[in-house]
Amino acid sequence: MRIDIATLFPGMFAEVLDQSILGRARRAGVLDVGLFDIRDFTSDRHRSADDRPYGGGPGMLLRPEPVVLCVERILAERGVSGRRSRVVLLTPAGRAFGQAEAREFAAEIHIVLVCGRYEGFDQRVIDALRPDLLSVGPYVLSGGEIAAMAVTDAVARLLPGALGDAESASVETHAEPGVVEAPQYTRPPEWRGLRVPEELLSGDHARIARWRAEESRKRSLRTQDGRRP
Ligand SMILES: C[S@@+](CC[C@H](N)C(=O)[O-])C[C@H]1O[C@@H](n2cnc3c(N)ncnc32)[C@H](O)[C@@H]1O
Repeated sequence: MRIDIATLFPGMFAEVLDQSILGRARRAGVLDVGLFDIRDFTSDRHRSADDRPYGGGPGMLLRPEPVVLCVERILAERGVSGRRSRVVLLTPAGRAFGQAEAREFAAEIHIVLVCGRYEGFDQRVIDALRPDLLSVGPYVLSGGEIAAMAVTDAVARLLPGALGDAESASVETHAEPGVVEAPQYTRPPEWRGLRVPEELLSGDHARIARWRAEESRKRSLRTQDGRRP
């Protein structure tokens, strides 16, 4: 699939996109990520993408022209003919991004993530593009870039062939709504007096599976109650 990102700070993405699972997915051709600098779509010599809000108020807003031109260019250059591109604007006022949304996005062929900065977007960006509005959580980030990285990462690991072990995405936390995975341990069997549960050392696969299912059930209940898993 393709994910294109419209941002004022394309330089923030290099490490995140090159390392680990995202880097491997891109090199394997499972995921194709494009970065587009909104400033390339400005027309003044200062390349200014923001301006003061009408009616007063603190901070600056992203002007409609460069943002919309940038997205239009992405759709023209990178859209897949005959297939819908999904334009997603990152905003703390959007629909909450969860594992269900990650799954929904992973089924798309092309997603455009639009990152805000300053005090956000001129409303006409939303009126012109009619994007999905998406929030990565009930808090305010300084810009949409970290939100776009979170969305890209969560979506990428659901793409077939992105993970080394095809099992991993299906057994982890949130694979089913409200489900938290069982505690996990690696060597040594005892560390600072803390022992790995006997069941996991038993070599009895049925017993291990029962233990994991029960621990997952207990942790899920505790998490739903807002207690420590
Ligand atoms: C400082 S925020 C602007 C907040 C805006 N004044 C408001 O009250 O909604 C700047 C940009 O960061 C991004 N952003 C901040 N928090 C976010 C969140 N929780 N989810 C997604 N994007 C977020 C958005 O792209 C936003 O335009």
